[in-house]
Amino acid sequence: MEINTDIFCGDASDILQDIEENCVDLIVTSPPYADQRKDTYGGIPADKYIEWFLPISKELLRVLKPTGTFGTIELVY
Ligand SMILES: C[S@@+](CC[C@H](N)C(=O)[O-])C[C@H]1O[C@@H](n2cnc3c(N)ncnc32)[C@H](O)[C@@H]1O
Repeated sequence: MEINTDIFCGDASDILQDIEENCVDLIVTSPPYADQRKDTYGGIPADKYIEWFLPISKELLRVLKPTGTFGTIELVY
C-alpha cells in the first residue's frame, strides 16, 4: 500500500477540492472553535458555523475512502 505524506497548507475548502475522491484513509481534524479564539486565529460567528463547515465536511466525506476513518481532536487548555 502506497503511503503519501504530503503537507498542504491553506484553506481546507480550497485544498480539499484538489484531492481525488475516495483516496484518504484517515482524517484527523481540529476544527476552529467558532469565534471563541478571535485573538488567535479569527474564527466564524457561531450562527454561521454550520453554513461554513457543511461544504468542508462534504469535501472531507468525498475524499475519504469508504473504509476510511474520520476523527476530531479537541484541545482542552
Ligand atoms: C482548534 S484550532 C487547531 C489547533 C491545533 N490542533 C493545535 O494543536 O494547535 C483550529 C485551527 O483551524 C484553523 N482554520 C480555521 N479556518 C480554517 C480553514 N478554512 N482551513 C484550514 N484551517 C483553518 C485555524 O487557523 C486554527 O489553527
